[in-house]
Amino acid sequence: MTKPKLFIFDLDGVITDTAEFHFLAWKQLAEELGITIDRRFNEELKGISRMESLEKILALDPALQGMPLEEKKRLAEKKNDHYKELIRTITPDHILPGVEPLIKRIKEEGILLALGSASKNAPAVLQRLGLYEDFDLIVDPAKVKKGKPDPEIFTKAADHFRVPYSACVGVEDSAAGIEAINRAGMFSVGVGSADVLSASAYIVPDTSRLDFDRIVEKFNRAREVEPSR
Ligand code: BG6
Ligand code: MG
Repeated sequence: MTKPKLFIFDLDGVITDTAEFHFLAWKQLAEELGITIDRRFNEELKGISRMESLEKILALDPALQGMPLEEKKRLAEKKNDHYKELIRTITPDHILPGVEPLIKRIKEEGILLALGSASKNAPAVLQRLGLYEDFDLIVDPAKVKKGKPDPEIFTKAADHFRVPYSACVGVEDSAAGIEAINRAGMFSVGVGSADVLSASAYIVPDTSRLDFDRIVEKFNRAREVEPSR
């Protein structure tokens, strides 16, 4: 069995359920603009940046086209204010089931751990969860030129440690994130519904099913099928 050298975790919807908080904050902003969004539409917002999310919401209403950039910035900030209000309540109890044992095992195995999240609030959320110190690297999304589904955030993490992409495992709850991991040539683990995450190399329905040995087994099997990875 070959062990991966680096695990790269997404944050929102993988480590904690902040994907729900992002949804609630966008829903509130959208309602203020007279737009209704549902959970299905929200799948398209997962993994992408704040500004890109706003653009997708504004695109739903023809009357809102051509909005000046300053106004868009104000709306994005407003959403972030709603979101920051929601994350004030986060404590270590909000770590999703299965995540702490997986992180513990990764550390025990001497494997590197990085965070590849599009969220500028990620360091604050990790601090609140008490997990900040466990991460060897938090990729700064402000320094990433192309967001998910571009592989850049994942390749940046691997490049930082000079680890080959084929030795990396990425864990994601968004379709954009899984595409990014796959395009990086890394092993993708999807957490969530098979409808949305069908491109994952390995998929589990929820975080409680994230098991280190099983992931490593699947990672090795994928390498047998595709030795060049
Ligand atoms: C991603 C979330 O992790 O971060 C998106 O999946 C969110 O929903 C994006 O929009 C940006 O987050 P933030 O905190 O910088 O607005
Ligand atoms: Mg996510």
